[in-house]
Amino acid sequence: MDTGNKSHWENLYTGKTEQEYSWFQPYPHGSIAFLESFCLPKDARIIDIGGGDSRLADALLDLGYTDVTVLDISAAAIEKAKQRLGDRAEKVKWIVRDVSEFEPEAGQYDCWHDRAAFHFLTAEPLIGRYADVVQRAVRPGGYFVLGTFSPDGPKKCSGLDIRQYSRAAMSAVFAPWFRRIKCREEAHLTPFQTTQHFLFCAFQRR
Ligand SMILES: C[S@@+](CC[C@H](N)C(=O)[O-])C[C@H]1O[C@@H](n2cnc3c(N)ncnc32)[C@H](O)[C@@H]1O
Repeated sequence: MDTGNKSHWENLYTGKTEQEYSWFQPYPHGSIAFLESFCLPKDARIIDIGGGDSRLADALLDLGYTDVTVLDISAAAIEKAKQRLGDRAEKVKWIVRDVSEFEPEAGQYDCWHDRAAFHFLTAEPLIGRYADVVQRAVRPGGYFVLGTFSPDGPKKCSGLDIRQYSRAAMSAVFAPWFRRIKCREEAHLTPFQTTQHFLFCAFQRR
């Protein structure tokens, strides 16, 4: 059950520099604040879903985390991230896969992070599939941080339709398996000086 968007992402990452992506952040302050608030040990198993060539992996390595995985549908994105990290790329596990086809072991991760990948799944079966993957992947007591456009945000991202989430709508998708801990709105300033309204929520696996 793939999303059918792989060629879109491969073309995008082949043709643009990071300053040309609307979602670019020089440093992922909001995500790091959430992840650090969990007080996980430095060897916690952390996965960034749709990590692309974002700087989250760099920031986690800088903070001393030793078990970081980045999954993305685009091989070109992962290649860019590896190039940027240089020798440090060997410290990260890289997975090129559509998240809806990911088959993690049960409880394989202590923490799952996703900034602006899940919101591209607009069809109910794919949303259900994602929920099934994340509930399987995160160990009981583990954490899940999800960032999507909020109801005040754009209706498209990278030219593709997305689904916006309120706190209630996001929580409802994952409620059978995850307890919501806290949410925070974030106004992301794009490299083009426009603002995109995000909602981030953190959850704990029951
Ligand atoms: C808007 S970008 C966000 C990138 C990164 N998370 C960040 O915050 O900078 C969306 C990312 O999700 C990836 N992506 C989109 N659909 C995906 C899917 N079904 N499975 C895995 N990755 C996906 C894209 O390749 C892209 O890197």
